[in-house]
Amino acid sequence: MEGLRVHAEGTYLDGTFGRGGHARGVLGALGSGGRLLLMDKDPEAIAVAGREFGADPRVSIMRGSFADLGRWDAVAAGLDGVLFDLGVSSPQLDVAERGFSFGKDGPLDMRMDPDAGESAAEWLARASADEIADVLWTYGEERMSRRIARAIVERRAQAPIARTGELAALIASVMPKPRAGRHEIHPATRSFQAIRIHVNRELADLEAGLDAAHAALRPGGRLAVISFHSLEDRIVKRFIASRSKAPAGNRRLPEATGFVPTLRAVGGAQKADAEEVAANPRARSAVLRVAEKLEAAA
Ligand SMILES: C[S@@+](CC[C@H](N)C(=O)[O-])C[C@H]1O[C@@H](n2cnc3c(N)ncnc32)[C@H](O)[C@@H]1O
Repeated sequence: MEGLRVHAEGTYLDGTFGRGGHARGVLGALGSGGRLLLMDKDPEAIAVAGREFGADPRVSIMRGSFADLGRWDAVAAGLDGVLFDLGVSSPQLDVAERGFSFGKDGPLDMRMDPDAGESAAEWLARASADEIADVLWTYGEERMSRRIARAIVERRAQAPIARTGELAALIASVMPKPRAGRHEIHPATRSFQAIRIHVNRELADLEAGLDAAHAALRPGGRLAVISFHSLEDRIVKRFIASRSKAPAGNRRLPEATGFVPTLRAVGGAQKADAEEVAANPRARSAVLRVAEKLEAAA
């Protein structure tokens, strides 16, 4: 919230409404001339936004990916701040029917937008073992990716894998047993994260969303992104660096000339403090990065 530096009469976009915790904070700082644009891929989040904020004349609501924020008419006049609080919301994880959780048996779906693209079950039913292994390795850094992918392909030859509990048990059955006395995460944690990131095109959306936010920000406007794992944070960090710092020189090539920064990084990676973690344990792995659009930028 502090990173966004909300001005009472500004226009702000919360691209990840969730259940509106941040949106409520922004609205509280806005005056009667301010505007708040709300987006989420998830129809349930959008329904909550409509119920809670639909009657507020300062608020506009759009269901969709923040990757497409530039197509929204409400954005055309420019933005003074954009917030992305990435990943899944607690209600998405808590409701078994959404299929995100290895701890709660439900249909193997994992889509934030249940009307878009393939569910996790549909993808796992048709992808090759190599493709599955690549996803588990790239998005989950799962060292047993090939072994798990082989097990999935063997199991689905007998019957489709349709439930989260089934997939979690299958993964657990092929993983090495944890060493006695060591506290290990659930053996399906990395695989579920990887499949979720793939099914929701999370990293591609993030890259497109950062570009779109950058284009929509007015000079002095701020971009604030909260990431929950290193793959996301690396994309955000590189995005800000590539627009705020000239590329490092190469001895054999002439100095890169004509670099004009369009962003200024506001501090580095910021972690939640103890108080925030106590209030919301999920904040433990959160990293916030903030950047400001520069006056000279086109
Ligand atoms: C961590 S929660 C946000 C929580 C929110 N800041 C709050 O205070 O309640 C992430 C939300 O972003 C949504 N989401 C994730 N990626 C998205 C994207 N590319 N476009 C739009 N919404 C997205 C998810 O559906 C989820 O509701």
